[in-house]
Amino acid sequence: MNAITSLLSLFLAAVAVGQIQPSGVTRPIAQDCGFNGTVVCVNKYGAVLPYHFNRSISNNNADYDYRNTSVRNASTFDLLGGADFVVFDQQRGMQYLGSNPSYEFMFAVSKAVHEAPVYAPEQNLLFISQLAPPPGYLPQLVVNLNDDPPTLSEYLPNPPVYAPNGGTFRDGVIVFGASGGNDSIGGGEQRVSLRTVDPATNRSTVLLNNYFGFYFNTIDDVAVHPISKDIFFTDPQYSWFNALTDTAPQLPCASYRFNPSTGATFLVEDTLEQPNGIAFSPDGTTLYISDTGAVTGTIDPRLGSQGTTFNTTGKRTIYAWDVSNNGTRISNKRAFYLAQDWVPDGLKVSQEGLVLTGSGHGVDVLDDAGQLLIRIQTNYTVQNFAWTGENLTTLWLMGNNGISKVEWNITGQKLT
Ligand SMILES: *[C@@H]1O[C@H](CO)[C@@H](O)[C@H](O)[C@H]1NC(C)=O
Ligand SMILES: *[C@@H]1O[C@H](CO)[C@@H](O)[C@H](O)[C@H]1NC(C)=O
Ligand SMILES: *[C@@H]1O[C@H](CO)[C@@H](O)[C@H](O)[C@H]1NC(C)=O
Ligand SMILES: *[C@@H]1O[C@H](CO)[C@@H](O)[C@H](O)[C@H]1NC(C)=O
Ligand SMILES: *[C@@H]1O[C@H](CO)[C@@H](O)[C@H](O)[C@H]1NC(C)=O
Ligand SMILES: *[C@@H]1O[C@H](CO)[C@@H](O)[C@H](O)[C@H]1NC(C)=O
Ligand SMILES: *[C@@H]1O[C@H](CO)[C@@H](O)[C@H](O)[C@H]1NC(C)=O
Ligand SMILES: *[C@@H]1O[C@H](CO)[C@@H](O)[C@H](O)[C@H]1NC(C)=O
Ligand SMILES: *[C@@H]1O[C@H](CO)[C@@H](O)[C@H](O)[C@H]1NC(C)=O
Ligand SMILES: *[C@@H]1O[C@H](CO)[C@@H](O)[C@H](O)[C@H]1NC(C)=O
Ligand SMILES: *[C@@H]1O[C@H](CO)[C@@H](O)[C@H](O)[C@H]1NC(C)=O
Repeated sequence: MNAITSLLSLFLAAVAVGQIQPSGVTRPIAQDCGFNGTVVCVNKYGAVLPYHFNRSISNNNADYDYRNTSVRNASTFDLLGGADFVVFDQQRGMQYLGSNPSYEFMFAVSKAVHEAPVYAPEQNLLFISQLAPPPGYLPQLVVNLNDDPPTLSEYLPNPPVYAPNGGTFRDGVIVFGASGGNDSIGGGEQRVSLRTVDPATNRSTVLLNNYFGFYFNTIDDVAVHPISKDIFFTDPQYSWFNALTDTAPQLPCASYRFNPSTGATFLVEDTLEQPNGIAFSPDGTTLYISDTGAVTGTIDPRLGSQGTTFNTTGKRTIYAWDVSNNGTRISNKRAFYLAQDWVPDGLKVSQEGLVLTGSGHGVDVLDDAGQLLIRIQTNYTVQNFAWTGENLTTLWLMGNNGISKVEWNITGQKLT
């Protein structure tokens, strides 16, 4: 065959499958990176995919993860379907997975949102909340890690804390963002608030329940600055959309800093549509907050709670800020990461400075420049996650219908 006929036959072959293929496809697109196919590496981020490819848009009933992208003439892409970990940066990703990474589905739970995981190291207990839907009073959950295998049971502190949506530790007690409110919860009135629970006694107290008389909307996620020890929290409007509060929002979506010793609350941020996950780098110099405005609802007190819808072109971005003045001032807002699946819900920073976010059917692991290194793939939507264990190298993930755990070489920050 001369050059012209061989080009012609290539062209005809391409036409035969309906496409002229782009140059620059790195093959294999994906490959087994060991551990019996549970770790799959995507070469060069699949930056050029062969035609025809198409990723369906997720909705409230189906999550089309990256692995669900249909890619013609790329059989290796199918390897992603069976993987627990997808590695995008092979050198750093494999190092962070360590010598024996594992993923284990631990507990099937209700389809309610599961959130606010807090690990109490002294008791070796992991507290997890359950939120509507379905609406109604739900006790919280606790995973007892002293049992082998770990056991799951219901948990109610005294008095009960309604609808924790985020949690962390401060001065030896748990700080929960309690995201719901009405006047008949557990025998009395509770409003959206910052609450504490002492894991040694299970006693709860209220730190903050209003902004100059107004109810907060949702207090969603909380983070304590390592130097000022002030409590930063996000206040989106999901509790109204999801019927966890009886009162329509009285405040705009915003994020705040609270100083428990003076009682003063400071507005820190009011540009995000639905501020959600919040976390500090270990040295406290960078603040991250996710905007999950792509999942939103309507505020009309006459209509009541209408649930939420997802719009793929809405906000699903993590932003970063510089933190100064010993953790009292933030500046230099910048876009950090656009979630590659669903919305970036829970947000935490590892001891190594890696930024993790629960987004759709998995958890994305990013470096401090926002480069995706690893994705944990799950078969349920992950809302949040927390590190447990003596060395904080076990990561428990939780969300709608599932609780699972990962063992790897990424370490949590000590929170107590
Ligand atoms: C399909 O991929 C193979 C390599 O795996 C390549 O040789 C072939 O040309 C591709 N076909 C098309 C139409 O691109
Ligand atoms: C890989 O899978 C095979 C078959 O399921 C099993 O026998 C083997 O122990 C597995 N190896 C590892 C390293 O998990
Ligand atoms: C992508 O897939 C979806 C779902 O199958 C389909 O509705 C849509 O038309 C496809 N789009 C393209 C450009 O192939
Ligand atoms: C996405 O792919 C996974 C693994 O192959 C599969 O279990 C799941 O059903 C797919 N999701 C959708 C919405 O098709
Ligand atoms: C675990 O990660 C550290 C860096 O955080 C690295 O020095 C070490 O080599 C890694 N361990 C393995 C087994 O890859
Ligand atoms: C208040 O919330 C609790 C917990 O969800 C629920 O059982 C109760 O019916 C609610 N009361 C009102 C008046 O909405
Ligand atoms: C607090 O709750 C935990 C989890 O249910 C339980 O193991 C522990 O005994 C309780 N502590 C007290 C002092 O009641
Ligand atoms: C999504 O948002 C865009 C504007 O960002 C709007 O034009 C579009 O109609 C919305 N789609 C749905 C399904 O609501
Ligand atoms: C930070 O706090 C330290 C110790 O309290 C103090 O010496 C320093 O002046 C503070 N720095 C700023 C910028 O506020
Ligand atoms: C996820 O997978 C586990 C087994 O690995 C299974 O028990 C569970 O039912 C699955 N959950 C969903 C929501 O598909
Ligand atoms: C924690 O790390 C130490 C030091 O590397 C090790 O001896 C110990 O076994 C680890 N603990 C667990 C539970 O892995």
